[in-house]
Amino acid sequence: MSSRFRIRTYGCQMNVHDSEKIANLLHHHRWSEARGEDEADLLVINTCSIREKAEHRLYSDLGALRAWKRAAPGRALGVGGCVAQQEGDALLRRFPHLDFVFGTHNLRRVPAMVEAARAGQRSARVDESRSLERFDWPERHPATSEHSPGRAFVTVMEGCDMFCTFCVVPLTRGREISRPARDVIAEVEGLAARGVREVTLLGQTVNAYGRHDVRRGRAAAAGTLGFAELLERLAGVPGIERIRYTSPHPLFFDDALVAAHGRLPALCPHVHLPAQSGSDEVLERMHRRYRAADLVRIAEALRAARPDLVLTTDLIVGFPGESEADFRATLDLVAEIGFVDAYSFKYSPRPGTRAAELPGAPEPAVAQARLEELQGLQRGLTLAAHRARVGTRTRVLLEGPSRRGGTQLTGRDPYHRVVNLDAAEAGLDPERAAGVLLEVEIVEATPHSLIGAPRVTAGLRTGPGQAKFRKSPSGPGPMRTVAARSGVRMPGID
Ligand code: 5AD
Ligand code: SF4
Repeated sequence: MSSRFRIRTYGCQMNVHDSEKIANLLHHHRWSEARGEDEADLLVINTCSIREKAEHRLYSDLGALRAWKRAAPGRALGVGGCVAQQEGDALLRRFPHLDFVFGTHNLRRVPAMVEAARAGQRSARVDESRSLERFDWPERHPATSEHSPGRAFVTVMEGCDMFCTFCVVPLTRGREISRPARDVIAEVEGLAARGVREVTLLGQTVNAYGRHDVRRGRAAAAGTLGFAELLERLAGVPGIERIRYTSPHPLFFDDALVAAHGRLPALCPHVHLPAQSGSDEVLERMHRRYRAADLVRIAEALRAARPDLVLTTDLIVGFPGESEADFRATLDLVAEIGFVDAYSFKYSPRPGTRAAELPGAPEPAVAQARLEELQGLQRGLTLAAHRARVGTRTRVLLEGPSRRGGTQLTGRDPYHRVVNLDAAEAGLDPERAAGVLLEVEIVEATPHSLIGAPRVTAGLRTGPGQAKFRKSPSGPGPMRTVAARSGVRMPGID
């Protein structure tokens, strides 16, 4: 029987990486990747339930895939990810052409579930596990490619104990669990040996890495460290030139993490700081456990440590009880911090979350108008930040051909901005450019990206400002956060 698979992935980078893990596992079980779904014997949908729209995508996909399933005998169809975790075997009952359902802690069961499906057995596994086994994966198979050459995701922790009232993630990803540091370091060393230059550390609250172990005095036993110390170790891995992490929670920007941004040249000068709102009342109802002023302080501290650092954020409008004044506070915060980009969303009630019970959600038209106003403000900030880059130099890690077509290439600079450039100008074959690290001068700014021109020179200016790296003699400090100094109680830290 031929064995070719395809995976459709929705949602966050953790899902993208989970799909890579599933693909790797299937390669180890003698499957190969099909060029398209038409040629596939197995189709896996990796789902997202962060907002209602994302969840509905699955239901419309599954409806449309009845025809795919019927079109060839022996085809198998599976669903994983956050919707699978929440719905479990209800999905099997609702969709008779669906063969298997696997939860967020059950990825490693996929090959066995596929085999069962091919033998005519339907199954659902969504049991939660607190075991570290979920971090055990076979070595990357030679046929498994990274989402982009030269760059790789590395899981450092999973789950979330924060329970923001709007968020379904603690219900779909379970409790926080951190992976032993030596395993993370070994994985990064292995990636570097294969030519990976940029790693993005992943976790639902990635900078909470190790915090429970550190607080309980059992970090040595668990093999974990504070997050800043982990970064320090990874920055020492030869060949790794860029380290990013996503997504952090503002609460866990402790002094050591802020200092790491000043001390470690490999740590990219970009931080995603999910604000969600600029109103203290809304933040309280969201159970975010910080105030708007704490975010301003974190931004200032990060920029003091690394003057060229840029910030991006996530924002929600139309949260239950959000008044016009609350929304203005969000606009004010965005303008004050000067985010270089923002992902903004209309609040979407999620079943099982506390906010779903809260009264007072603004009218949909009001939420829509707020979203548009916020996005308008952000567009101006983004364009201004891009224009300020014109004339500066930076280094771009190329990802491949740009969507703009022709000989255009696309990549990212250390600030995580998209930079497009011409392959011919750089003397590169567009098909082989992915993974190349190139020095460029920014020659033009557009609303969504920068245009670069290749430059080969010895000196390197780094962008918005000259990066200064301070040597800190003290090393990672105790787990105190910037917010802690302002008197906010730190759950799990104080
Ligand atoms: N409605 C709207 N946006 C949400 N997010 C998370 N849950 C919801 C929800 N119920 C947003 C937050 C988070 C990002 C990943 O998605 O801004 O940071
Ligand atoms: Fe969701 Fe909040 Fe956890 Fe982020 S920190 S995953 S927003 S509950």
